[in-house]
Amino acid sequence: PAPAAPAATLRHFLVDTDLTPAEQSEVLDLAQSMKAERFRHRPLAGPQTGIVFFDKTSTRTRVSFAAGIADLGGQPLIVNPGETQLGHKESIADTARVLSRMVSVIVWRTFAQSGLQEMAEHATVPVVNALSDDYHPCQLLADLLTVREHKGRTEGLVMAYLGDAANNMANSYLLAGVTAGMHVRIAGPAGYLPQAPVVAAAEARATETGGSVLVTTDAAQALDGADVVVTDTWISMGQEDEKEARQSLFRDYAVDAAAMGTAAPDAIFLHCLPAYRGFEVAAEVIDGPQSVVFDEAENRLHAQKALMAWLLYRSGLATAPDGA
Ligand code: CP
Ligand code: NVA
Repeated sequence: PAPAAPAATLRHFLVDTDLTPAEQSEVLDLAQSMKAERFRHRPLAGPQTGIVFFDKTSTRTRVSFAAGIADLGGQPLIVNPGETQLGHKESIADTARVLSRMVSVIVWRTFAQSGLQEMAEHATVPVVNALSDDYHPCQLLADLLTVREHKGRTEGLVMAYLGDAANNMANSYLLAGVTAGMHVRIAGPAGYLPQAPVVAAAEARATETGGSVLVTTDAAQALDGADVVVTDTWISMGQEDEKEARQSLFRDYAVDAAAMGTAAPDAIFLHCLPAYRGFEVAAEVIDGPQSVVFDEAENRLHAQKALMAWLLYRSGLATAPDGA
């Protein structure tokens, strides 16, 4: 007999560790199949609506979710910052209850992680974090897909992140990287390193997968022989007032040709974009032969289609993705 389908429980994706290592791998396998168009899966045909809320600006996340929901047979509803009652006239809980009566998936880019948790507690459809102050887990699915494509695997590879190591991307690289069995090295200045609970969660996950965690102020230690080199803006959304201070604070953590020269000779370079050439990354690196940043950007689409299809299926709200 065929194996029994897993019991349906409402599933959300608020932080990278919401997927177990096996589940993350399933989503990435599905993303690779969907990208190769080995099959078409339309769990949102009807069409059902997917709502994508933005409290911060976006190019990639907006377009990849809009295109992805449409590709899954659904209809995207994009809501720009300040366009709804949410956050001033109406509670998150009531918003979650109302939206769950009307849409099949809720995607939200916001500030506080606690808001996403509250939305998920009161929603009866999957809630997806499209970036918060603390995590950017959808970006990491795209990054891991890109690593798989260029390196054939994630397990056992060394991934070095340099720069603002206290931001959402650093946290997500740590958690999603070890979930994928990677050795994740995070380097930034003292005071701008990941918080202890995030490091502890990553270390716990690493013991399950054979990955490891190194947090350091020494950029050279992080870069030495790395297979994958990554960075992010030094000025995240909401930190614009600190621009000048941050531009000098992180200067020693810039990824330039000399830095790439200390990584593995066949290392690849990733950046979630938008990028600031001449600050966190030199133009010769991001525009050079080791850079895979546009594959990475495209992979937002494929990874999120797979994620939404997987969440809907595992929540008992759609049929199994063929080939999953
Ligand atoms: N990388 C990323 O999330 O880009 P946007 O801010 O343009 O969505
Ligand atoms: N750390 C950046 C990521 C942008 C995709 C920010 O939060 O602005």
